[in-house]
Amino acid sequence: MSEVTTNEYNQDGKLIRKVRSFVRREGRLTKGQENAMNECWPTMGIDYQPELLNWKEVFGNDNPVVLEIGFGMGASLVEMAKNAPEKNFLGIEVHSPGVGACLSDARDAGLTNLRAMCHDAVEVFANMIPDSSLSTLQLFFPDPWHKKRHHKRRIVQLDFAEMVRQKLTIGEGVFHMATDWENYAQHMIEVMNQAPGYENIAQDGDFVPRPEDRPLTKFEARGHRLGHGVWDIKFRRVS
Ligand SMILES: C[S@@+](CC[C@H](N)C(=O)[O-])C[C@H]1O[C@@H](n2cnc3c(N)ncnc32)[C@H](O)[C@@H]1O
Repeated sequence: MSEVTTNEYNQDGKLIRKVRSFVRREGRLTKGQENAMNECWPTMGIDYQPELLNWKEVFGNDNPVVLEIGFGMGASLVEMAKNAPEKNFLGIEVHSPGVGACLSDARDAGLTNLRAMCHDAVEVFANMIPDSSLSTLQLFFPDPWHKKRHHKRRIVQLDFAEMVRQKLTIGEGVFHMATDWENYAQHMIEVMNQAPGYENIAQDGDFVPRPEDRPLTKFEARGHRLGHGVWDIKFRRVS
């Protein structure tokens, strides 16, 4: 098997090779994370199934929906949901201890506007997210895949940008990316400049100033300590 593909089989037993943006890490849930999963999954967890979600049924209201891919331990997602009760937040993360940690914090904060999924966001997008229904798609510090031969694993690619565009509301929906890896920031801009149907929100150059409503995560703080810069990129769906 090549380094960047995962072997999977379709229903007819045919081999399909998938390039994934993540490596499944073995990681045990702490007792607290496990308890939070058991306790909160019935109200805050959404199981993967290849069927479109109905936001009104999921959240019980028509508020704008913000979706975050790869929320890690959920620190920014929980903080944002706390600060914006007038919006709904759905986080998707493949690493189950992170999902447990997020649910635990969301429960402790008494949040009712947060839901979580533990699955590959690309598959969730393809099969569960209704078109033109998201106010924001957040992708904060995605795995940078530093080595050139791994760049194809980066989640931001032309196909991905197109998939996201279809899910954002027309004229308003925003795709917000942040990274502390300059080469990935440049890659994001290159991809987004080629992707049809978007405009860059930045007034001055390619990047927007760090938005105040994006909480500082452990990951970003680590980047600061290592002397990394941080680049925020916002593109709006225009057609
Ligand atoms: C570098 S971490 C950043 C975590 C967090 N956003 C932060 O800023 O602290 C990237 C995260 O994205 C998750 N991830 C990568 N590809 C994903 C995918 N296709 N679907 C869901 N989660 C994904 C990884 O498991 C990892 O937790």
